[in-house]
Amino acid sequence: MTQSLLFRPLFDPESSTYTYLLADRASGAAVLIDPVLEQAQRDIGLLEDLGLKLEWALDTHVHADHVTAMGVLRERTGCKTALSERAGTGWPDVLLRHGQRVEFGGRYLEVRETPGHTSGCISFVLDDQSKVFTGDALLIRGCGRTDFQQGDASQLFQSIHEQIFALPDACEVYPGHDYKGRLVSSVGEEKRFNPRLGGGKTQEQFVEIMNNLHLAHPKKIAVAVPANLYGGATGGHADPELPVSDPWAPIEVSLSGIPEVAPEWVLSAPAAIRLVDVREPNEFDGPLGHVARSELVPLATVPDVVRGWDRDAPVALICRSGGRSGKAAMQMLKMGFRRVVSMRGGMTLVQELASKRDAQARPSL
Ligand SMILES: [Fe+2]
Repeated sequence: MTQSLLFRPLFDPESSTYTYLLADRASGAAVLIDPVLEQAQRDIGLLEDLGLKLEWALDTHVHADHVTAMGVLRERTGCKTALSERAGTGWPDVLLRHGQRVEFGGRYLEVRETPGHTSGCISFVLDDQSKVFTGDALLIRGCGRTDFQQGDASQLFQSIHEQIFALPDACEVYPGHDYKGRLVSSVGEEKRFNPRLGGGKTQEQFVEIMNNLHLAHPKKIAVAVPANLYGGATGGHADPELPVSDPWAPIEVSLSGIPEVAPEWVLSAPAAIRLVDVREPNEFDGPLGHVARSELVPLATVPDVVRGWDRDAPVALICRSGGRSGKAAMQMLKMGFRRVVSMRGGMTLVQELASKRDAQARPSL
């Protein structure tokens, strides 16, 4: 069985991300797990050198520290792309669910949901259970952080114990990152030596450790998360030679993973950006008013109303305080819209900003 598999770990030094190339030698069918945009050319070159046909580009989750190469790889090789159905996007060709098989030639990867670092994290287990690709759920002697992107320490503890530690001890663990130069571990080794999760650590002890990490936010989160929801292509281009720091809007991702923009940007947004207010009619015409040229689509009617809209057209969503517009943004991303943002703080913040401006403009007496 092993002879039929070609396996190449690859590394991106800037983000310390591992990308894994697996291929069925007999048919040449290949898979890339967690490809990095800046390394797309390297990966395509390797596929060409080895005469492999890329069938799948897979992400273990919506990454916050690098931009995915899934979009570029699909464009260049015609491969299919996939993410978890819980990743909060409708962009990939296939939305994966627990237990599903990703087949390449005569081999396959089994999908296991391992949420906790993000709500849409999955691990891929090789068909003979000799290897597991854990993304940022289980790292070597560590694990992914749980303080943003719907992270949940208790859930991560359960995911690792039920889905990864349940594999054979000899199963090799290939993580999404390593910052200390380590390449591989095993399930048995992590069960014994992982300082956060191994050696009989309880869920309570784990949650305590995770709640006291106080980590800085990843440098690229504001660019990476929105880009990765639609394959890594920001601003409509997907060329690895081009910088990815010019998304179509100055998006900042909220702690719960919602792409947001400042009200100041919405108020002077280019005409090409559709402004959609998801409040009720009485609020739209109420004391907080509404943004000029915004159209009213109450939240409950969003899925029906937007169904026929162009999935590439940019949309900014507005509500009273940013809650409902955030929900609408996530709904639309799941429906396959690629450029959707929520206005941070809603009309309440617009009014606050306006009254501050008035106060500053008032001449002193
Ligand atoms: Fe991550």
